[in-house]
Amino acid sequence: MEFKQKNLQKIYKELLTDKQKLPLSELKNKYTSKKGLINDAFNKITSIKPKERAEYGQEANQLKKIFSDIFNNLSEKSITYSTKERIDVTAPFDINCSEQEKPIFFDTKGTQHPLTKELETFTEIFKGMGFNILESRQIDDDFHMFESLNFPVGHPARDMYDTFWTEDGFVLPAHTSTMQNRAMKMFGPPPVAVILPGRCFRNEATDASHEFTFHQIEGIYIDENVSLGNMVATIKEFLQQYLETTLDVRIQPSFFPFTEPDCEFVIGCPFCNKAGCSTCGHSGWIELMGCGMIHPNVLKQAGIDPSRYSGFAWGFGVDRLTMIKRGINDIRYLRDSNLNFLQQF
Ligand code: FA5
Repeated sequence: MEFKQKNLQKIYKELLTDKQKLPLSELKNKYTSKKGLINDAFNKITSIKPKERAEYGQEANQLKKIFSDIFNNLSEKSITYSTKERIDVTAPFDINCSEQEKPIFFDTKGTQHPLTKELETFTEIFKGMGFNILESRQIDDDFHMFESLNFPVGHPARDMYDTFWTEDGFVLPAHTSTMQNRAMKMFGPPPVAVILPGRCFRNEATDASHEFTFHQIEGIYIDENVSLGNMVATIKEFLQQYLETTLDVRIQPSFFPFTEPDCEFVIGCPFCNKAGCSTCGHSGWIELMGCGMIHPNVLKQAGIDPSRYSGFAWGFGVDRLTMIKRGINDIRYLRDSNLNFLQQF
């Protein structure tokens, strides 16, 4: 670009050098502030010979346009973050700094949380048994929490699952069974074999074996001719692989609107050898999971014909099983964030 007006050409050349080195604020100040070079050039128009004024004005406007293009371009670049630079506004140091520059907070490296470790172990075992995996949601709706599971509106069994609701009617799931309907639709038509790990919430007082939030792993298996015997064998196989020990196991009747018949898998308390302690509520037994044959109404809700297919489902507490395997006698340790506890795993 060449300007015929010498003073404008000089400003233009200066601008080309300045754009490389001056910060945006200084650039703006130097060229377009009240006393800036471009404003000054406009003010000079009165001193230009009348016949040259039109051309001068045109060139001055051109220079102003060039400046604003350069300025806008530089501003855009300055807010485009490099993808190489990671951002963590919560970190008390620049996370892009070198290893040597990083402050030392702890003399040991962090580890996975024991629950995360156990969740990985559980999913590996079920993967080996041919199950798919679909994580459950931490917020859901009334249909998946109740209606799809054969709890019509006003059913008294809804009270068994007292949990937390949002003001606009969404629910924090009290169990992972909320995912059954979705999993059947997603993985159907049968055979369907899927586990549904996820976080659950209940509005209840805490004690050594109860938390207001905990994890469950739901499992469903649906095909032709599936029986209660298949269910017992599958759960036993899983427990044997996980606990690597023989345990006293009891299957007792229970009640769930979404299964028929309904059962509970209960094991003898390994902390007191069934004598009774705070972990097992002084009963000698720890309830591990609810299970049963999937109710025909639940299959129908997911478009599966109950006259052709049958299936079983279970839901167990990840925290409770982790406690048993790792010898933790109070569930509340798992959410205390106490490093002395966590560093043992
Ligand atoms: C249920 O949640 C059923 N959805 C399980 C089920 C699935 C039955 C599929 C049939 C078919 P229940 O409320 O019993 O059932 O909870 C299942 C397991 O979650 C319990 O055995 C226990 O291991 C764990 N659990 C329940 N409440 C808590 C709690 N407050 N804290 C920690 N673990 C809990």
